Amino acid sequence: MRVLITGAGGMLGAELRELCTTLGYEVVTTGRKADLVPMDITHPEQVRTAFDQYRPEVVFHCAAMTNVDACERQPQLAYRVNSFGTELIASHCHRVGAICVAISTDYVFDGTKQAPYHEYDPVNPLSVYGRSKWLGEEGVRALCPRHYIVRTAWLYGKHGKSFPHFVLERARAGESPTVIVDQIGSPTYTADVADRLLQLVQTDCFGTYHLTNRLPVSRYEFAERLLARLGISVPLTPLRFSEWRTPAPRPPYSPMTSWRLEWAGVDPMPDWMDALERFARVLTG
Ligand SMILES: NC(=O)c1ccc[n+]([C@@H]2O[C@H](COP(=O)([O-])OP(=O)(O)OC[C@H]3O[C@@H](n4cnc5c(N)ncnc54)[C@H](OP(=O)(O)O)[C@@H]3O)[C@@H](O)[C@H]2O)c1
Repeated sequence: MRVLITGAGGMLGAELRELCTTLGYEVVTTGRKADLVPMDITHPEQVRTAFDQYRPEVVFHCAAMTNVDACERQPQLAYRVNSFGTELIASHCHRVGAICVAISTDYVFDGTKQAPYHEYDPVNPLSVYGRSKWLGEEGVRALCPRHYIVRTAWLYGKHGKSFPHFVLERARAGESPTVIVDQIGSPTYTADVADRLLQLVQTDCFGTYHLTNRLPVSRYEFAERLLARLGISVPLTPLRFSEWRTPAPRPPYSPMTSWRLEWAGVDPMPDWMDALERFARVLTG
């Protein structure tokens, strides 16, 4: 299988690159860094050239403007990358006959449901990031029928820096990390996402999927368990969601569950505690 990864230098892109290489796939890693095949997803000619040159069979579209507050401050750039860029990728997938796997987010939801969101729940993004990702999803639906839109959330893994790294850095510096007590979501390990994505693309059950580690948890409980597992006894500083001031609004409650994964015959995702344990083992060598 010839696979092309956009944003291959990012957290999920790097994980997919590693897994696809291990499985012996032909992997084309694209992005804006010097060690990658040059492809800025907002540059139509670069996208066309890369697709013509490599003729992928499957495209894992991981490139995105992921800084939620930066998106709020620079909406035009956010829509250019997350909406227009995704539309370009979807169009070229369709043109060369590739399956388009576009990664999206729990931030398409507003967080008012009070039960985990499934694939058929209505969206209502609160932020520019969420809206730009939703419009990217809609572009994929319209432009490339052979697609998987895969919504994930609160990613962490061995590549890149994310919430667990922030907590650990502060705690190891002897500071008490400030963590929101009542923001609930689905922290998700990139290794599990990469594994299930590779199962999913074999199914031909195209459409929209939620792909997160199972069971809802608060940021606070997740951070507490991480520190306890690593034997770090630094207290957390709790902050309430209502007191958290950020440029972009966020859903207070955005856990996701998947109906469609099981229907498609893909292995269920492990729960967040199982995933965190495996991540902790990677951290401790
Ligand atoms: N991180 C999360 O918690 C989370 C949660 C839900 C959904 N997601 C989604 O999951 C996907 C992967 O996220 P991630 O956490 O792996 O993100 P990430 O680590 O921020 O990586 C994103 C990658 O996209 C690249 N990129 C940005 N603009 C680009 C452009 N114009 N052209 C080409 N590449 C560009 C970045 O490269 P540069 O280094 O060149 O900027 C970076 O390598 C994204 O679609 C994101 O929206 C993430």
